[in-house]
Amino acid sequence: MSQWVLGILGGSGLYDIDGLENEQWIAIDTPWGAPSDDILFADYKGVSLRFLPRHGRGHSLTPTTVNYRANIDALKRAGCTDVLSLSAVGSLQEAYAPGDFVAVNQFIDRTFAREKSFFGPGCVAHVSVADPVCPRLSGLATDAAQAAGATVHRAGDGDHLTYLAMEGPQFSTKAESALYRQWGCDVIGMTNMPEAKLAREAELPYATLAMVTDYDCWHPDHGSVDVASVIAILQQNAKTAANTVRTLCETLSGTPRTACAAGIETNLDVAIITPPD
Ligand code: ADE
Repeated sequence: MSQWVLGILGGSGLYDIDGLENEQWIAIDTPWGAPSDDILFADYKGVSLRFLPRHGRGHSLTPTTVNYRANIDALKRAGCTDVLSLSAVGSLQEAYAPGDFVAVNQFIDRTFAREKSFFGPGCVAHVSVADPVCPRLSGLATDAAQAAGATVHRAGDGDHLTYLAMEGPQFSTKAESALYRQWGCDVIGMTNMPEAKLAREAELPYATLAMVTDYDCWHPDHGSVDVASVIAILQQNAKTAANTVRTLCETLSGTPRTACAAGIETNLDVAIITPPD
């Protein structure tokens, strides 16, 4: 049995994977409240998987009402060693077409109505999120998506692929979309922040495969994003997303897990300011 325990945050459909074994939905409570749903524990090719539907089964939680702290804490309590986010995004660049995947490695956090830290009065910590994505997990997930037939965009050495996290639930205005393009952002979504920051505080290596569903509202040749088009692309992509998870597990099952070279699993060693009692 490989010692990878892969947490997967995403929509429904992702866990409709042929060949999953030992499937069990388990409720996990946390000091931060309830996560979005029970977690599906399962095994595939010797890899332990933990699926958490980010918006709940039935998609009843808005991006603002998702309890990101509870979700990350529940995945940690479920034994995850790594967390992969599969998330729908709008494209802010011509080159990323609906249906493509983008392996983002940077975020701009424009959310403002969410709890963003496990730390607070009593225990103060400042983790670095300079590089918020685990390069190992992102690389493995990108290779898997490519092998599963997706067109995947990955950053060149030292380059950024940036996800703009907005509060929502409304989509952006044209002026906002134009501004984010001027900022050099690549894709836009509503969920990956504060998720990525919290994963870092929880010492969990985190990566995102952003699945492009639309051109937001800036593209002269494409209509403004609406829910119907987002859902249509997600449905078209569901098989590729599930195959990505399957392929990733096949790689992980033949790769003994070593400690994260980026030091993500020990980053609190240098982050907590409050002296111990
Ligand atoms: N999710 C999918 N498409 C999006 C968009 N254009 N803006 C924000 N979130 C999205």
